[in-house]
Amino acid sequence: MPRQLFVTTALPYANGNFHVGHIMEYIQADIWVRYQRMQGHAVDFVCADDTHGAPIMIAAEKAGKTPQQFVADIAAGRKPYLDGFHIGFDNWHSTDAPENHELAQQIYCDLRDRKDGSLIESKTIAQFFDPEKSMFLPDRFIKGECPKCHAKDQYGDNCEECGAVYAPTDLINPYSALSGATPVLKDSEHFFFKLSDPRCVEFLSQWTQDGKLQPEVANKVKEWFSVRTNPDGTTSDGLGDWDISRDAPYFGIEIPDAPGKYFYVWLDAPIGYLASLKNLCTQRGVDYDAYMANPALEQYHFIGKDIVTFHTLFWPATLHFSGRKTPDNIFVHGFLTVNNGEKMSKSRGTGLDPLKYLKLGMNPEWLRYYLAAKLSARNEDIDFNADDFLLRVNSDLIGKYVNIASRAAGFLTKRFGGALGEVPEDGAALLHQLRTQHEAIARLYEEREYAKALREVMLLADRVNAYVDANKPWDLAKQPGMDARLQGVCSVCIKAFRVLTCYLKPVLPELAKQVEGFLNIPALSFANVTEPLPANHVIGSYQHLMQRVTPEQLDALFEEKEAATKAEPAQAAPKTIAPSVVTASSDATAPGGEPLALTIGIDDFSRIDLRIAKIVHCDAVEGSTKLLRLTLDVGETDESGNPRMRNVFSGIASAYQPSELVGKLTVMVANLAPRKMKFGISEGMVLAASHGDDKNNPGIYVLKPWPGAQPGMRVH
Ligand code: MSP
Ligand code: ZN
Repeated sequence: MPRQLFVTTALPYANGNFHVGHIMEYIQADIWVRYQRMQGHAVDFVCADDTHGAPIMIAAEKAGKTPQQFVADIAAGRKPYLDGFHIGFDNWHSTDAPENHELAQQIYCDLRDRKDGSLIESKTIAQFFDPEKSMFLPDRFIKGECPKCHAKDQYGDNCEECGAVYAPTDLINPYSALSGATPVLKDSEHFFFKLSDPRCVEFLSQWTQDGKLQPEVANKVKEWFSVRTNPDGTTSDGLGDWDISRDAPYFGIEIPDAPGKYFYVWLDAPIGYLASLKNLCTQRGVDYDAYMANPALEQYHFIGKDIVTFHTLFWPATLHFSGRKTPDNIFVHGFLTVNNGEKMSKSRGTGLDPLKYLKLGMNPEWLRYYLAAKLSARNEDIDFNADDFLLRVNSDLIGKYVNIASRAAGFLTKRFGGALGEVPEDGAALLHQLRTQHEAIARLYEEREYAKALREVMLLADRVNAYVDANKPWDLAKQPGMDARLQGVCSVCIKAFRVLTCYLKPVLPELAKQVEGFLNIPALSFANVTEPLPANHVIGSYQHLMQRVTPEQLDALFEEKEAATKAEPAQAAPKTIAPSVVTASSDATAPGGEPLALTIGIDDFSRIDLRIAKIVHCDAVEGSTKLLRLTLDVGETDESGNPRMRNVFSGIASAYQPSELVGKLTVMVANLAPRKMKFGISEGMVLAASHGDDKNNPGIYVLKPWPGAQPGMRVH
């Protein structure tokens, strides 16, 4: 019976590009989805950007964009990662989409208006408010002195120095990290989801302890039913009510019948799973409600270990008590670290930049294979280690698996026109062994025990290689009268290779496609792999399937990081001369009248995108004696392919006449956030030199590249 599955990964915050931790989660889920499809099951696999919340709103403001624009720009950068690593989501949506607004409000109303008593309650609570920004401050944006160890500049919820947990109100000399203002306590009405209600407690203790969750996850969840830690570090019994509202200004979804109140981002984020699915249904002309009403529908969420509470308590309670289907399971994975456990920052990732990996021409299926070879069904961390990566890919994937085809296919095409011959008896036994493993391997995929599955496949590959070594086709090829034997041995290899390819296909979808092409066979599935190929099957000519990883590629991948590490001692050196000390322009420590800035690593520098720009127009700015308005061509085009110009205001009017500049090339900072100025928006900055002491040494000198540089070229 084909199953109907609805599968998601966690929705990434739309405040940055993917890091390799995200890619790992998507690869884990994508392998599972591909496996299910190879079993003939129907799967809808969706994701979306998690767009709401105070941090994104604040980041957008800093970037000079509306939150909508900010998250749209992030969304626009998703595709190269997903396509690049063959991650086959059926839909990528947004939690700010209309479907999500509608669903979140509907779900809230269903919780509020329950016939057996509302599960929403409002309470007035006192919270820190930034009088300058006119907004309530999330804990992360309140800083101050730790009440325990008196460390300065600690966050509002816990101290990074001594580990103390407290409420923001406990901080000594608290200040707003947004404005620096001293926050004031202000009352506000908040809405709570009554998780402490006996109905919720009973439902959740059953839902989380009925054996579906991974044992280590279920055990952790159990603890939350007995004790919980309050914001002030004290503990209470049982589940606490969940604060689901935030006050304006907030980038989020409005709460019905409560003007100025928005859903806390974690209420609407998982609803985004349903919104993305609903959007997919619309695209396909399928009725979403009917789809969800299917009693056989199975729903699974792949997530990381840091968001278990939201998915095993809040999310099932939200769904169940609003009269909706709850997930069939939550699959929790550990964290990926890189090169020996270096902690990965949630927003910045680590030295392994997935896009750089692709740009270096490294094969995405190497990473899929390597991660799969480490992943199990347990919630445990895994490490990407460069040496280990090279070894596993080169010796297992290429040395053991790809080599089987390259060793056998040439003889068949050159000597027998690609025709497979009769399988000798010893070969038939080998093929039988390979095929009988198919259920065991399928089960390992089903259970997300990918490392075990791949180990089994490599053991089978070892047997095939042993068969090749025992039969030495290269010797047979030289012996007269051994043609039939040569053809038979090579046919065994190719048939074995077909079976192994099927077993690896969820992990290596592109390679499998290439193999299906060269073997001239229909798409491989777990169902058809046990069916032998027709007699006299003819294969196509062998194309090189996969390159080896080189140490140089790995060096290049981690290069930036190494440079940054080398620069560190200099960074840690005592801070250089304070500017006030430096006056004389002849001071060797202050070349050009200004002391050198603190040392940075190459990675800091590479965040500044300098480009060659052509000054297409230049005008004086009415009402300003300092500024010139420059129209710059940096080689960009808009959606319709027309040249896109940048408008930049530059304080160089004292040094240049507009006519001197028109037609010249210069260098600009091309990724500077646009800035609204009195005279319009400035979209970047032109580089110019000047002396630190401009009273005694006036003069501004715009940079000009050497001949040959073209608009748009990056300056490194
Ligand atoms: N927006 C929330 C999830 C909302 S789901 C309704 C969020 N976003 S996130 O971008 O921080 O993380 C997205 C997923 O990536 C989470 O499952 C998280 O556990 C996972 N990972 C983040 N860092 C990771 C690693 N270093 N390794 C593996 N997964 C990691 O949380
Ligand atoms: Zn402390």
